[in-house]
Amino acid sequence: MIDNTLKEILTINNNTKTSNLSQPHSKLLIRNLGLKVFVHLIGLLPFIELLIRWQTNQLTVNPIQFIEQSLGLAAINLIIVGLAITPFITITGWKQPGRHRRTIGLYAALYVILHFLTFIGLDFGFDLNKLARQLFEKPFIIVGSLAALIVFALAVTSFKYWKRKLGKKWKILHRTIYFAALLAVIHYAWALKGSVSNLSGDVIRPIIYGFFVVFLLLMRITTIKNWVIAKRIKLLAGR
Ligand code: HEM
Repeated sequence: MIDNTLKEILTINNNTKTSNLSQPHSKLLIRNLGLKVFVHLIGLLPFIELLIRWQTNQLTVNPIQFIEQSLGLAAINLIIVGLAITPFITITGWKQPGRHRRTIGLYAALYVILHFLTFIGLDFGFDLNKLARQLFEKPFIIVGSLAALIVFALAVTSFKYWKRKLGKKWKILHRTIYFAALLAVIHYAWALKGSVSNLSGDVIRPIIYGFFVVFLLLMRITTIKNWVIAKRIKLLAGR
């Protein structure tokens, strides 16, 4: 991360053949570096929180369940953060966060994998027969697995090699994240004890997540997107 920024600085230095950076360039580089650090902090925060809780004996009386749930929450949060980047650019016009979509996506995939590994490893001791029985008893796991497969496939194909190889199909493939996000919300709501029909139990949070995901998807519709952009331009022009 820092290496790339240093490379950018060196390139600019070489191009300008001076040892001092011009003010706007150095400001831009500092701002980009700040954003990179911020993005990695967002990605690492759930892991750091778990580490602190582990060190301070705050993993509750059921640590495996707590870790599994925390990793699941981290995964869904990061999927949503990734999904929110395009609408954020539409609303603010600030394009820089778009460069960090992949990093956020990779962190989301990492937490999905850790969530899955905690489930089959710590919870089931890698006993696949037991796992197969669970799939029938708890169908929300099938929904989560579908979402996980999509997220994993997108993480693997996020590299330049696949982008080049798949061409136009790459964009279509990566749009399946919309479907994965909806599946993740259903998995979340279903995993919690409660009922969506009478809003009992813990369902309020997944419902809010669901509304937010739908909002982020609606913001991608060209008519809505253009309307928001037009409003922003008008607002900035002071009309
Ligand atoms: C994109 C993929 C996935 C996401 C975003 C996700 C997210 C979540 C979330 C947010 C929860 C609820 C956490 C809470 O109680 O606060 C959860 C629970 C759970 N997930 Fe996932 N999950 C995914 C995939 C999977 C997969 C592949 C499996 C297993 C094969 C799985 C197994 C479970 C189980 C067993 C629970 C219930 C944990 C408990 O309360 O004891 N999930 N997941």
